[in-house]
Amino acid sequence: MTDELPLVLEGVSYIYGKGALKKQILFDISATVRAGEVVILTGPSGSGKTTLLTLMGALRSAQQGSVKVLGHELNRARERTLVKVRRQIGYIFQSHNLLESLTIGQNVQMGLKLDPAGRRNARQRIVAVLERVGLGEHINKHPAELSGGQKQRAGIARALVNRPRVILADEPTASLDKQSGRDVVELIQELAREDGAAVVLVTHDNRILDIADRILHLEDGHMKPLGEAVSEGASRMLNLLGKHEPGTASYLAAFSFALARVAYADNVVDDNERDEMRRVLHDVAQLEPSEVEFIMELSMMQSRTMNAGDSSEEQLGLIAARKAHFLESLYAIAGADGEVSAEEIEEIRTIAAEFGIKHSRPMDT
Ligand SMILES: Nc1ncnc2c1ncn2[C@@H]1O[C@H](COP(=O)(O)OP(=O)(O)O)[C@@H](O)[C@H]1O
Ligand SMILES: [Mg+2]
Repeated sequence: MTDELPLVLEGVSYIYGKGALKKQILFDISATVRAGEVVILTGPSGSGKTTLLTLMGALRSAQQGSVKVLGHELNRARERTLVKVRRQIGYIFQSHNLLESLTIGQNVQMGLKLDPAGRRNARQRIVAVLERVGLGEHINKHPAELSGGQKQRAGIARALVNRPRVILADEPTASLDKQSGRDVVELIQELAREDGAAVVLVTHDNRILDIADRILHLEDGHMKPLGEAVSEGASRMLNLLGKHEPGTASYLAAFSFALARVAYADNVVDDNERDEMRRVLHDVAQLEPSEVEFIMELSMMQSRTMNAGDSSEEQLGLIAARKAHFLESLYAIAGADGEVSAEEIEEIRTIAAEFGIKHSRPMDT
C-alpha cells in the first residue's frame, strides 16, 4: 500500500530564484523509500542531492509535484503540518552541529520532543541512545573532548533520540577518516534496521555504497536508474578499454569485475581490499589512476547489481601467463584484509571454474 510508505515523491521539480535568476535544479523526480530501507543518493557535486534531501525533510517546498512524508502531503501544506513532519524526521548533517557550550547529554536532549511523556523519561532515553552509539561514558563531556567520529556519533544520537521513522543524512562521513566514516554509516544502517526507519543517505563516497539496499543516482537534477548509470559507465569503460589492444579489453573488463567479486565474497569490502584492487589494476593492467578509480567504481556497482555470468576462456583471450596472473591477483585481493576467508576462496573457485581456469592456489612469491 503506497499510503504506508514513509517517503513518496512524484514528479517533483524545484526551481531556485525568481525572474531572470530562475534556475531549475530538479526535474520530474519520482522515488519511494520503504520502512527499514537504506537508500543511498549519489551524484556529482551540484547535481541537486542536498536540495532533494531538504524537500524530503520539509525544509523547503517544491513548486511542482508531490512529496509525501509519513502520510502527509507537503506540497502547499500549512506551516503547522511542515513543523509536525519535521519533528518526526532525524537529520544528520555533514558536520555534527553540536553546541560546544553544552555537554553531549544536553546536546542530545535538544533533539528530544518536549511532550510530557518525553520529559518524564528523558534522561533514560538520552542514556539509552548514547549507549547505542557507543558514547555511554561520554554523556557529561563537552564536544571539544571528543574525536571527530565520536562527535558525529553524538550528532546521530541527537537525530535518533526521538526514534524517527525517517532519517535523512547529508554526507555524514565527509569530515571523517575512512574507518570512522565506515563505522558511522554502519551504525546508521543498524539503527534503521532495528527501528524500521526509512533512511536516505547522501554521499559521493564510493566506499560506502555497499551498505545501501538501493542506490538512486542524480545527474544535473535528473534521477537516473542505476542500471542506466552502469550501462553509461560500461560504454565509457569500453571506450577506455578501446585504447588498449582488443584482446586485452575483454580480459580487463572481466578481470576488474572478478576482483570486485572476490572483494565482495564475504560481503564487506574493506579499505585494504580496495587499495589492493587499485594496486592490481594499476600495476597489472597498467591503467592510469583516474582509469583505476573509474573501473573500481564500475566493477563495484556491477558486482552489487548482478552476477558475472558466462564469459568463456576463449572470449577472454586467457593465455597461460594471464591465467596465473588472474588467480594470483584474486588471492592478493582476498588476502588484503589479512586473511583469506572461506567465502573468498569459494568465490575464487567459482570464478576460476567459470573462466575455465584450473584452480590451484598460486605460490607465495
Ligand atoms: N539557495 C540557493 N540558491 C540558488 N541556487 C542554489 C541554492 N542552493 C543550491 N543552489 C544550486 O543548486 C544546485 C544543486 O545544489 P545542491 O542541491 O546543493 O547539490 P549537491 O548537494 O548535489 O551538491 C547547484 O547548482 C547549486 O549552486
Ligand atoms: Mg550537497
